[in-house]
Amino acid sequence: MSINNRTSFAHRGLLWVEGALNRVFGNSLNPMYHLGALGFYFFWVVAISGAYIYAFYKTGIELSHPSVEYFTNEQWYLGGIMRSVHRYASDALVLVMFLHLLREYILGRYRGARWFAWVTGVILIWMILTAGINGYWMVWDQLAQFTVVTTVEWFDWLPIFSEPMARTFITYEALNDRFFTLISFAHVTVPLLILFMLWVHIMRISYPVVNPRKRLAIGMLLTLLALSLIVPVQSQGLADMSVEPRVLQIDWFYLWVYPLLGVWSAGQVWALVFGITLLLCVLPWLPARNKQIPVAEVSLKDCSGCGLCVADCPYEAVVMRPRSDGLNFPEEAVVVPDRCVSCGICVGACPSSNPFRGDDQYISGIEMPSLPMSALRAAVTKDLSTLEGDLRVMVFGCDNAANIEVLRSKSIAVLSLPCIAMLPPSLAEYALREGGVDGVLITGCREGDCFHRLGVSWVTERLAAEREPRLRSRVQRERVGECWASSLDNHELAVALNSFRASLSKLPKVR
Ligand code: HEM
Ligand code: SF4
Ligand code: SF4
Repeated sequence: MSINNRTSFAHRGLLWVEGALNRVFGNSLNPMYHLGALGFYFFWVVAISGAYIYAFYKTGIELSHPSVEYFTNEQWYLGGIMRSVHRYASDALVLVMFLHLLREYILGRYRGARWFAWVTGVILIWMILTAGINGYWMVWDQLAQFTVVTTVEWFDWLPIFSEPMARTFITYEALNDRFFTLISFAHVTVPLLILFMLWVHIMRISYPVVNPRKRLAIGMLLTLLALSLIVPVQSQGLADMSVEPRVLQIDWFYLWVYPLLGVWSAGQVWALVFGITLLLCVLPWLPARNKQIPVAEVSLKDCSGCGLCVADCPYEAVVMRPRSDGLNFPEEAVVVPDRCVSCGICVGACPSSNPFRGDDQYISGIEMPSLPMSALRAAVTKDLSTLEGDLRVMVFGCDNAANIEVLRSKSIAVLSLPCIAMLPPSLAEYALREGGVDGVLITGCREGDCFHRLGVSWVTERLAAEREPRLRSRVQRERVGECWASSLDNHELAVALNSFRASLSKLPKVR
């Protein structure tokens, strides 16, 4: 039943890099697994350091630069460090944002219902770049002068202003009054809008991780502090509108568009910016390589309204509503089709997915229409009936992780699911008790890197009897193995299967 097991060149490269980082930091501290949370973290560092230096900042063409120079040099031990931390954390924010974008793209986590996080992410890119460019203007040094003049000329290309902005803004008086009032106001309001947009960005994600692990956060802060001490941020000479700025140091995270404006025309750069934005925005709707399977459906007569599917859905795609069919339960589950990514995790959470139920009524409270539980149970029963040999194992795997088809043999049966958390623990018990296998091996994405965000966590908790539906205590736990392996880790999975079988050989025979 395998659908994906994506192995594009970029995907393999990403898995390789992340595997190397796992070896250095461990899965729980791998920065690549926490890019969204690190984005939030750097946003807060920028906000706090910014609030400190803003207290010393003075608004006005004559006042801004000296006030920045004051806290940078006179108060270097705090104001200067805060300024550097503010700058480096802003750069880090852009870096993690682009890595996050690249990662979600390579993993294909932007299609279907995930379009919402993707498109709001694209809006965030421009908001964050705007806030950063605006920040550079506050310093009112030669870099600010160069970027202000270039921006005004760039915007003047657009046929939206009745009077050229250059005439309105680039005079001493206009700069002093309107410009500094505008940028000071914007430098506070745009970050507030960013915060609102970040909230929108993760609205359709259950249990979003917005705080990195403590050790990762401390490590990042120490790196920012070290950078601030080793290479403190300095201004680039007071702006002087009568003099063309000299050679400037460009911040490539925020100001990459300005060197481009030196070699391309304003129209060409607008075309590039609009083109990239449009392409990013339509990406979720471009033809997909893998067809999405139909979304989850509730079977009301089999739903007791327990709410386990709501608790486990990683995408806020199931909600509880008052009962509509007169059955004696207060609530019923309802799938929001636009939000469902067809991971099947809700099916694994539903108590009525229990395969020990009788044939005539084996319909789960919530089902994947193309992979009904009755068909999965029938597939398991059929495969297990053909197994031969001493150490028989049923392997349950995930379409997005290591390819389990290659493990299939006379004594090994396999079943791949859209997410390993679609597996109700009772199906593992069923394979052991009714299928007569010696062991069940459960495998899915690498720890900390579940394609469906929470699937691996839910499975490990269910198997450890820490989360409903639990693996029942009558199941011999040593007959249920776990191995978390990506599509790059097929060899590791084969090794894990061999050692699992070796451990099974030490247990009493089941047949
Ligand atoms: C600095 C800006 C950003 C921050 C702080 C941020 C933060 C986050 C966080 C915390 C999550 C939830 C992660 C989880 O718990 O699984 C998330 C998800 C996501 N982000 Fe961002 N994000 C940012 C920018 C972007 C950008 C620019 C894009 C792409 C255009 C993007 C695309 C996505 C997608 C597609 C998801 C959903 C992934 C899924 O469905 O599993 N984000 N983001
Ligand atoms: S399949 Fe179920 S768990 Fe997955 S997104 Fe849809 S409703 Fe949520
Ligand atoms: S887990 Fe199953 S029984 Fe419980 S509310 Fe969801 S669909 Fe209904």
